[in-house]
Amino acid sequence: MSAAVTMARHYGLKKLAAPSAGNAGGALAAYAATAGIEAHIFMPRDVPLANSMECDYYGAHVTLVDGLISDCARMVAERKENEGWFDVSTLKEPFRVEGKKTMGYEVAEQLKWKLPQGIIYPTGGGVGMIGMWKAFDEMEQLGWIGPERPKMVSVQAAGCAPIVKAWEEGKSSSEMWTGAATFAAGLRVPKAYGDYLILDIVKTSKGTAVVATDDEILDAVRHWASVEGVFAAPEGAAALVAYQKLRASGFFAEKDVVVLFNTGTAYKYLDMMEAKRRTVRPEPFASRNIGGIIGPY
Ligand SMILES: Cc1ncc(COP(=O)(O)O)c(C=O)c1O
Repeated sequence: MSAAVTMARHYGLKKLAAPSAGNAGGALAAYAATAGIEAHIFMPRDVPLANSMECDYYGAHVTLVDGLISDCARMVAERKENEGWFDVSTLKEPFRVEGKKTMGYEVAEQLKWKLPQGIIYPTGGGVGMIGMWKAFDEMEQLGWIGPERPKMVSVQAAGCAPIVKAWEEGKSSSEMWTGAATFAAGLRVPKAYGDYLILDIVKTSKGTAVVATDDEILDAVRHWASVEGVFAAPEGAAALVAYQKLRASGFFAEKDVVVLFNTGTAYKYLDMMEAKRRTVRPEPFASRNIGGIIGPY
């Protein structure tokens, strides 16, 4: 989003608008504040509190919508003409992909210009997958890497997995997912605008697409935090679930170098995680009465 807002300012745009399932809105609001540009952000009403609060504090015009990101996108499309907004929705302008592309360069650089056997990326709108794939092609043209590519793995939440469904059915585009529900808010995209690009990357790279349930994701957040001190966003923790499943199935071997993308921090999801924990695992008794003594067991 920093690339998109930088270029918007370069072209003299004054008002930007975007739908957001979560973090893109916060990023737009922050960079727009720095750039002195108006931001109009449409989010589902039930986004994590941090997402809507940060947009508000950054001075964006926030509309909370009773619906999903697809409904938010429709509202932006309907109003942008009259309002004079430039639409920075996922893949409707070119620079967000250019920004996320740098993840591909960073992976290559940090692995000494030898790409890993696999990359697991939590897929919402698909900008990360599409951007990294572009980076690999560019680096090959530059002569920095060879023709080999990582197996690109798209992970989605079981409650909203249009790409995984299309992949499993051998389709080249996805269908709108109905009743999308997951606390991994960034993955609650019922139909990605560039679904056919994502599916093509998964296929060409000999990758795959995997689902993670919210319970598996919550366990993975805790596991990752407890073994490495990384308090990952649910979207990022979904990548760990996918890795565990793909190791168990033999898709990846122990020796394979696989990069998991943690795309955010759990701190922005505390409200959702706490609500989830309470519904999944009822509160244990705070104290137990043993022989008349009340202790904090
Ligand atoms: C934390 C997080 N991870 C992943 C994604 C999905 O990213 P992409 O659009 O690159 O698929 C999002 C999208 O909002 C997100 O907020």
